[in-house]
Formats: sequence, structure tokens, C-alpha cells
Amino acid sequence: ERSYTSAMTLNKLGVPHVPHRYVLPPSERPIPIANSSNTLPIIDISSLQDPTLRFHTVDEIRRACKEIGFFQVINHGIPLSIMKEAIATATEFFNLPIEEKLLLESDNVYDPVRYGTSLNHTTDKVHFWRDFIKHYSHPISKWIHLWPLNPPDYKEKMGNYAKAVQVLQKQLLEAVLESLGLNLNYLDKEIEEGMQAMAVNCYPACPEPDLTLGMPPHSDYGSITILLQNYQGLQLKDQNDNWLSVPAVEGALLVQLGDQLEVLSNGNYRSVVHRVTVSKEKKRLSIVSLHSLALNKKIGPASKLVDDLNPVSYKEFSFNEFLDFISSNDITKGRFINTLKR
Ligand code: SIN
Ligand code: FE2
Repeated sequence: ERSYTSAMTLNKLGVPHVPHRYVLPPSERPIPIANSSNTLPIIDISSLQDPTLRFHTVDEIRRACKEIGFFQVINHGIPLSIMKEAIATATEFFNLPIEEKLLLESDNVYDPVRYGTSLNHTTDKVHFWRDFIKHYSHPISKWIHLWPLNPPDYKEKMGNYAKAVQVLQKQLLEAVLESLGLNLNYLDKEIEEGMQAMAVNCYPACPEPDLTLGMPPHSDYGSITILLQNYQGLQLKDQNDNWLSVPAVEGALLVQLGDQLEVLSNGNYRSVVHRVTVSKEKKRLSIVSLHSLALNKKIGPASKLVDDLNPVSYKEFSFNEFLDFISSNDITKGRFINTLKR
């Protein structure tokens, strides 16, 4: 019998303190409490479909991508019912007995489906108050048979959400490319052959939320990340290195730029550094859809964005190189993108 203690297990046990392995060094703890920001952009993207209004929305997206690498979207076309059902089935999954969840347990980052706790509980020196199930999701017919069998409606409910988000990410990515002045078809093939991996996260209520985090500071490796949360808890680092809490907006989805777009934009856009705080009372769920351009395709700065005044500032990289990086490095020690800077 292997020993395995998930954050949900500790929560069910009702431990009065977090075990020592969850305690962060004082400088890395989430204090002082960040203010919930009312300056973070919320963009109505229904106007992307309207040829006379599109340029205005693309302009808003450009500003958000330059300033912080993050925005929320509303009127994005995904029905609230699909979002709620995805959160509901995820909630049921994490409520299953640990033996059931361990059927999918893996610490191998190359596995297409894996359940786990913290980031990687076999190698983490400090643990994070988070359980997760990750699964590849696009093309869905290739992966869905590997997804959890329980709860019985997981594949249907999570599948409906996954398919809807895959459509949305293409619309968003096209708008982002347009905002950089790049041809819409510039990366068609890379987008179509790109990957969608979903991280479904559960951050149970935590007895000592000031001492620990649900996720350490990091930026995402891919192109864009689309995130659904049931409560607030995500924090972003702004240009002055202050942490901002992302407010929960009913029906909104959160969009984060990843390292591929920082590189592709030759540094015009930022991949946003973020972390997750936990709460004493509330269990938080998030469904994080990570999109990236084709797996073995090398991504470098777009040639259109490079000239004498704007020299190439990043090395090319592929998703596979990123996986090699995270499987042999501790992401809490530094960002992958910093290894690409020239
Ligand atoms: C993540 O960075 O992937 C987790 C974000 C979240 O749970 O809000
Ligand atoms: Fe992330």
C-alpha cells in the first residue's frame, strides 16, 4: 500500500493545522492579503462577431495583453449551464473515495491523464494545498476514453465544456494575433494541431491559509489559458510586482497569456505570473484549459515583429522542450521562459 494524503483527505480529517510540509518560508506566504482588483479588464467579446465593432474589441485585448497578459471575458457564447455542470461533475469527482481517484494517479508529466495532489507529491519539497485531475482534451475523440469513469456523467459534462472552450480559444487566439498585427491565418495549422490539456483543480478549505498556497507563482507555458472558477482565489503579479486578486464575476471566463505568446510577440505581450491562495471556509474549484500550439512545432518570435530596433529577444522552443524542463526542474525555482531570453 502506498501512502498518499491528498488535500481533500486532510480537509475531511479536519486537521487543525496544516502539516509542516505545507508551510512556506515567510517571504513566500500570501501576506499581506492582496486587494481584489477592480482595474483588471473585463471584455465583452460578443462584438468580435460584429465587423464594425471588432477593431474596438481587438484594441481592448491589445491593451490587456500588453499591460498584464490577462483579461476576463463576458458574453463569450458558452452557456452558464455548461459551465455549472462542469463544476458540478468536478466537485463530485473530488468527493469520491481516495481509492477511486488513485486509479488515475500518476506523477509522470507525460501521461495524458493523471490525478495528483500538490504539484508533484513525490518530488515537491514544499507541498501545495491542491488536488487535481489533468487530462488531454483535444481532439476529444482521441482522449475521452481515458477520462474518469466516475462520476458517470463526468465525460459528458466535462466533454461539453471542453469542446465549447476549444472553440472559444480559437476565436480568442485569432483576436490576439490580429491585435499583434499578424495575419489571422498565420498559425492556422499550429492552432488546429495544437493541444488542449485541462487541469481540474480542487482547493479544499484550509485551516491555515496564510501559511500556504494552492499553487506557487508561475506562468503557463502555452498560448492561452482559459479558466473557470467557482470562487475567487487566483492572484496575478502586476508590472510593479504587486499581487492582485482576480474578482469573481458570474458567468465570466478568465484568459491568461502563456509563454508561447510572450515569445511569439517578441516580448510585446507578457505571460502573466499567477498563484492561487486558499481559504479558511470555502472549497474552490477551477477548470483550467491550457492551450498550446502544435506539440513539436518550434515557436519563435514572429518575423514581422522583429527588425533593427526590435531584435529577437527569445530562443525558439517547443512544447516537448517545456515538458523536459518541468520534469527535470522545480518550477518554484524559476520560470521556463527565463531560460529562453536572449
Ligand atoms: C493554474 O495556475 O493552473 C491554477 C489556476 C487556478 O486554479 O485558478
Ligand atoms: Fe497556471
